[in-house]
Amino acid sequence: MLRIGNVAVEPPLVLAPMAGITDRDFRLLIRRLGGCGLVSMEFISSEGLTRQRPSTLKMLHFVDEERPIAIQIFGSDPEKMAEAARLVEGMGADVCDINMGCPANKVLKGCAGAALTGDLPLAGRIVRAVRAAVSVPLTVKFRLGLREDAATFLEVGRICQDEGADAVTLHPRTARQQFTGRAEWGAIGALKRSLAIPVVGNGDVTTPEQAVAMRRETGCDAVMIGRASLTNPWIFSQAAALLGGEPYAEPSLAERRTLMRAHFHEVIGREDERTALHKLRRFTGWYTHGLPDGRTLRRRLSELASAQAVLGAVEDYFLAQGAA
Ligand SMILES: Cc1cc2nc3c(=O)[nH]c(=O)nc-3n(C[C@H](O)[C@H](O)[C@H](O)COP(=O)(O)O)c2cc1C
Repeated sequence: MLRIGNVAVEPPLVLAPMAGITDRDFRLLIRRLGGCGLVSMEFISSEGLTRQRPSTLKMLHFVDEERPIAIQIFGSDPEKMAEAARLVEGMGADVCDINMGCPANKVLKGCAGAALTGDLPLAGRIVRAVRAAVSVPLTVKFRLGLREDAATFLEVGRICQDEGADAVTLHPRTARQQFTGRAEWGAIGALKRSLAIPVVGNGDVTTPEQAVAMRRETGCDAVMIGRASLTNPWIFSQAAALLGGEPYAEPSLAERRTLMRAHFHEVIGREDERTALHKLRRFTGWYTHGLPDGRTLRRRLSELASAQAVLGAVEDYFLAQGAA
């Protein structure tokens, strides 16, 4: 079992933070399917949080059933990051996570996200300021560095440890790579060997077997999964079964339909029509990936103008597929 400070992460499988995706509804769905030891919120701007921007505050909603939950903040000003961390702690987050991995230009220009792996003194000041501000367990998530010829992850890991972080997560790609190439799992092993605090490995786990393989090959303390959970939200429960030496089951079409229904009803009940339509289209695309005739359904969705119509099309699809 992984312990991050006083938080037990059991099983040692973590839902990755994904902006625009890991909102309350998706986190809850993952939590209810089981097998996930820690869920992560979408990243939260320290500026938005400290200025109490309504769009930022809206994202911060979570419920007790999701726990343990990590809230990730990003920014480049140590004092603002400390203040944001205090607010996150005050909201009851179980873990505060610092983003040092975001490769988006908008974030890099503000010297936040992965830019911090190119400015080690600033990275250190941020971890120190946040550590001094909160007593909740603190983690930092980063990439290899900005570019292939500037891999700083071992130094970043050492700084995080020295400044009092309770664990770190490595997604072993550079910022320049964005999502191209392959995650270099060997770097996770190297980081694990160089640190005393727990290391969470992340990147390109697409099957339950790969989650087990990442742990075995790298010695990481937990495995974080992002994109694969969109097409297979059962991946956590399946990987947890494998980690426990048990076989796992594939979800039936009926189970998939039940999951989509439950998720989509939550979305429609909480979001405005435009947002709901957007989310239902996106998630239907992921949830029906690889299913028979899924492409026909996905093509149909682009012609539908309301969330209810999407819901209806999804029901029709499952009926046509003979889901009981
Ligand atoms: C749409 C999307 C949004 C993401 N948003 C964040 C984020 O807010 N914070 C963060 O640290 N990483 C973010 N990531 C990176 C993931 O947390 C993860 O590191 C990456 O997807 C690699 O893991 P995977 O191969 O399991 O998906 C995002 C990734 C995607 C695809």
